[in-house]
Amino acid sequence: MTTNRAPGKIIPRAFPGIKPSEVEELIANSKVQSYPPETVLCHEDALETIFYMILEGEVEVTKVINQTEARVLKTLSAGDFFGEMALIHNAPRAATVTSKTEVVVLELNKESFDRVLQHSSSVAMALVKEISERLRQNDEMAIEDLRLRAGELAQAYQQLAEQDLARREFLTNVAHELRTPLMAASGYLQILQKGRLQGNQLNEALETVSRNVGQIISLVNDVLFLQEIELVLPAFQPVNLGEVAQGIVKKYEKKAIERGVHLKVKNERNMPDVNGDSKSLERAITALVDNAIKFSPRGGDVEINFEKQKDRLSISVEDHGIGIATDQLSRIFDRFYHRERSGDDLFGGLGLGLAITRQVIEQHHGKLNVESKPAKGSKFTMVLPLRNGT
Ligand code: CMP
Repeated sequence: MTTNRAPGKIIPRAFPGIKPSEVEELIANSKVQSYPPETVLCHEDALETIFYMILEGEVEVTKVINQTEARVLKTLSAGDFFGEMALIHNAPRAATVTSKTEVVVLELNKESFDRVLQHSSSVAMALVKEISERLRQNDEMAIEDLRLRAGELAQAYQQLAEQDLARREFLTNVAHELRTPLMAASGYLQILQKGRLQGNQLNEALETVSRNVGQIISLVNDVLFLQEIELVLPAFQPVNLGEVAQGIVKKYEKKAIERGVHLKVKNERNMPDVNGDSKSLERAITALVDNAIKFSPRGGDVEINFEKQKDRLSISVEDHGIGIATDQLSRIFDRFYHRERSGDDLFGGLGLGLAITRQVIEQHHGKLNVESKPAKGSKFTMVLPLRNGT
């Protein structure tokens, strides 16, 4: 410690204009103490009655905000005082004061402090000035904090309102999407009940009922799947996506042939595992393959291609179908975005597939990209981190 700790020199720095006799009185009523670093001299909210003037060293003044965070208000050094607020207001400590270094302080108890205050107008003036400044600073901090909290609350409210709107829109969409196949199935059932249909007509009616019921089941399954994966993160296991893709190709073989689509998978052998939930990943790739076939009304190749990239695995599904207009690209992952027609072609489906794919890939910390040109086709690429980065 190098400063001159003589109280006679430091006191006039704190109380400008103080008379030599008043300095003498202050010294006579106080005692010099020293404390090691990290000593708490004032405890916020405690009833304590010592006034301090720093002769040497530094202290830190902190205040608890929001009942959790301790905010630093100021660092005080030689010539500064603290502990005056509680004494003047007869109140608990307004903040906590902790020594940052070893400190030497002049201490006055409440009686001595009152006595000095009554005899010395310069001490009283300096105290009033400093206290009003400190109170203003503390109030400003509290107000700033309230403003911040009000901002956070407003933001949370906004988010809730947006979520609520999205949920309501989602419900309306589900109801709407259910109504179409339900109405169709129920209409045909009424005709069937009359018992007048026979032969081909009967078969067609049964076929329509069955197709519409299938659509309802598939929508309900998709909605449940989306809700579930949002709520519960499945346990991750090593998954061989090459095998998953082969399984999907097998499942879609018949449908692809019917549509004149040549469905194939390339480079899937010997690809390393990813870490994930195999059912969800299967569903994500299935949705891409399903779309690729659906949106290739003139047939053509649909290719699932694998590529290892450093610590990631890329799986793309490419078709040569109707493609997607550039201004629609940002919307295709939205729930219930679906294309009913392109030129003369009509497309069924409920528009949840890509929303599912995106959600699954996000959950697997992967990325999903799309490149597409109208009338040329689309390529969806998912990139997933490999298991243990192998
Ligand atoms: P008291 O409330 O008795 O105890 C804690 C002390 O911290 C307080 O008196 C002041 O001396 C000091 N203090 C409170 N707020 C501030 C501030 N904004 N700047 C500097 N010191 C402060």
